[in-house]
Amino acid sequence: MHTPIRPIRKAVFPVAGLGTRFLPATKAVPKEMLTIVDRPVLQHVVDEARAAGIEHFIFVTGRNKGVIEDHFDNQFELEATLEARGKKKELEALLRDLPAAGQTSFTRQQAPLGLGHAVWCAREIVGNEPFALLLPDMLHHGRSPCLADMITAYNTSGGNLIAVAPVPDDQTHQYGIVGVKDAKAKVAPITGMVEKPKPGTAPSNLHITGRYILQPEIFALLEKQERGAGGEIQLTDSMIRLMGDARQPFHAVRFDGTIYDCGSKLGFLTANVALALEREDLAAEFKREVQRLLNV
Ligand code: G1P
Repeated sequence: MHTPIRPIRKAVFPVAGLGTRFLPATKAVPKEMLTIVDRPVLQHVVDEARAAGIEHFIFVTGRNKGVIEDHFDNQFELEATLEARGKKKELEALLRDLPAAGQTSFTRQQAPLGLGHAVWCAREIVGNEPFALLLPDMLHHGRSPCLADMITAYNTSGGNLIAVAPVPDDQTHQYGIVGVKDAKAKVAPITGMVEKPKPGTAPSNLHITGRYILQPEIFALLEKQERGAGGEIQLTDSMIRLMGDARQPFHAVRFDGTIYDCGSKLGFLTANVALALEREDLAAEFKREVQRLLNV
């Protein structure tokens, strides 16, 4: 018998990473707070979760990440100043972004032991219910928000879901890779998974893009804290074990939009250009500037 379909109310955001690829920018500023146009990377990903109906936002932070907590809180001085200056639109936008009181939780991953360990750190706050997991580095940009698509699929399939998208064969070793029954289907049962396969050994070219819906039974497996690829406690390894349980279906949901890996400089810069070119208030002038720089 399959696990009954329970609503997805909570989302976990692992934000403890040191961001060494962006030094010195990330010496005092968390990498998740670097901006894509004028919104922090993390805000874009929280927006995606809110658009999917998530009610509780759980951040697994670390040392030097205090401003993330401040970002998702009221800033009375700023709000009062905007009000006094009659900047109604800006104030409304600021308040619109704010989760309601009690909708956020923060916990810390005390040591960088891997993604599996970071997720496990959220177990007490998630409790015994299915949850979404969003890796903030991976900005999913498309016509419909990735997590919303996944929740639609979940409402039929139940169980566990992983967003996937194709990558070139020479990049499969950088990701978690899944094998599926039907590589062209929007939603397909997963037949196998491997974290960072050695070149030439991947079961497909569908990579795990950083959006998951997971059942709480994952926590008991993460608890074992066995090390995997790169000596880290890998989420993928626990998902493979969970897949061994017949009551835990796993489906891949293909994401058809564009994914920007904002944990890399190239992805981060590309995301900034792409999103700026879509902004009504910026696009025309920005395009001219880009063309000028490129001598087009
Ligand atoms: C993690 C996951 C991997 C996934 C990737 C997406 O790896 O372990 O399965 O494909 O995120 O970004 P990391 O990027 O932390 O090495």
